[in-house]
Amino acid sequence: MLPPGGGLLWLGLVLGSVGSAALGSSATDALNVLLIIVDDLRPSLGCYGDKVIRSPNMDQLASRSLLFQNAFAQQAVCAPSRVSLLTGRRPDTTRLYDFNSYWRAHSGNFSTIPQYFKENGYVTMSVGKVFHPGVSSNHSDDSPYSWSVPPYHPSSEKYENTKTCRGPDGELRANLLCPVDVADVPEGTLPDKQSTEQAIRLLGKMKTSGSPFFLAVGYHKPHIPFRYPKRKIRQSYFACVSYLDTQVGHLLSALDDLQLASSTIVALTSDHGWALGEHGEWAKYSNFDVTTRVPLLFYVPGRTAPLPAAGDKLFPYLDPFDSISESVEPGRQTGDLVELLSLFPTLAGLAGLPVPPRCPIPSFHVELCREGRNLLKHFQVRDSEEDLYIRGNPRELVAYSQYPRPADSPQWNSDKPSLEDIKVMGYSIRTVDYRYTVWVGFNPREFLANFSDVHAGELYFVASDPWQDHNMYNDSQGGALPRSLTP
Ligand SMILES: *[C@@H]1O[C@H](CO)[C@@H](O)[C@H](O)[C@H]1NC(C)=O
Ligand SMILES: *[C@@H]1O[C@H](CO)[C@@H](O)[C@H](O)[C@H]1NC(C)=O
Repeated sequence: MLPPGGGLLWLGLVLGSVGSAALGSSATDALNVLLIIVDDLRPSLGCYGDKVIRSPNMDQLASRSLLFQNAFAQQAVCAPSRVSLLTGRRPDTTRLYDFNSYWRAHSGNFSTIPQYFKENGYVTMSVGKVFHPGVSSNHSDDSPYSWSVPPYHPSSEKYENTKTCRGPDGELRANLLCPVDVADVPEGTLPDKQSTEQAIRLLGKMKTSGSPFFLAVGYHKPHIPFRYPKRKIRQSYFACVSYLDTQVGHLLSALDDLQLASSTIVALTSDHGWALGEHGEWAKYSNFDVTTRVPLLFYVPGRTAPLPAAGDKLFPYLDPFDSISESVEPGRQTGDLVELLSLFPTLAGLAGLPVPPRCPIPSFHVELCREGRNLLKHFQVRDSEEDLYIRGNPRELVAYSQYPRPADSPQWNSDKPSLEDIKVMGYSIRTVDYRYTVWVGFNPREFLANFSDVHAGELYFVASDPWQDHNMYNDSQGGALPRSLTP
């Protein structure tokens, strides 16, 4: 772990050695990338139509962005989702369904998004939780392959589970979620605040460096502990989203202040969603929309919003609790179904880098390829077509997710089975009209799913059952629906 600012020292060394000669001439005008990855953020945001949550800064970002209404994670748990979206490969290719393996050693030496940018002349930097820490990123956030400088982790992260929360009796308690007085907690700060500050410091450094940069900022909130009265969980989650929103707001207004908003793509997404009581669940770990659906939006200077004139502010900071704050106008939106796998080709294409080729099947031996669709065409629509995207029906596309289980009935490790305990895999397909999931036998040594060994099925219709409470699988006798679930 580096002290605050430690990354800056390294950055000085890297920038000294990169120099302009190391960059291809194509990189000179390259757009920078600011990728914001939030932990456990379902699209309960103003810009996704939520009337309760206060998220004016993310709504403002959305108003200058292209927003994907129907974006889905490939597995609703942190490490598998992050490795999948950062390598652009499905969990069946990374073979990471738990937290316990590093893809380069375990399945294939797959390139990552930041690695690809680094190899194309970018300075790549990680702040906070981007890769899941631990074995799944080789205890190093995939350094040195993905990052030009050692990843930054906020020093106050180590107090996440210490007694920092004052209970009704005045005593400090651990594992309670409640408002903290920041001046009162160890180091007088919180991890996401430190991450924002570090990210702004790095942006300041990069402004004068002349090198294009790829900065990934991973926020820890909203993340809630268990054992909490239900009503308060929702309230606390919403409060965490507003706190996150203030961090995003400060970060984006720094882009304005540093005059980087005209040369920096901003992408915002989350590793997966979170159930706030739907289906009796207070967790991720499922194939339902509430845990697989994520926010996904891209601000692209000059494309999704006009280039800011000198001195103009695109992202002035907005206080979530300022009652005068007007609700922000929505920007461009599309209802097409997309997967987080698309992040890799889409960011590459938007930044002007070659889009990696489609993966062959299988692709374990191929270091650089993409399993996800390239979403670039969504950014090229003209005004008349754009109206179609907004008002018309989304096109018939699909998004795949999956979730492993150790048994057919719930047991102690059902939420997070280790690879060797996986007996059933739930493959789920989401179309515009329905979500269809089959739970089939799975062999974790061969990584083989047996589609003739169906343990259970689920079918929910989007229009009549948006919360997926009424399983129609048995009514439909299962077999009539798409058979080709394996992408
Ligand atoms: C993982 O990290 C260790 C030491 O930090 C290193 O020796 C090893 O080569 C890394 N694994 C891969 C596959 O790069
Ligand atoms: C994996 O990829 C990295 C980055 O391209 C490369 O440096 C390394 O040698 C590769 N490892 C193997 C075992 O091919």
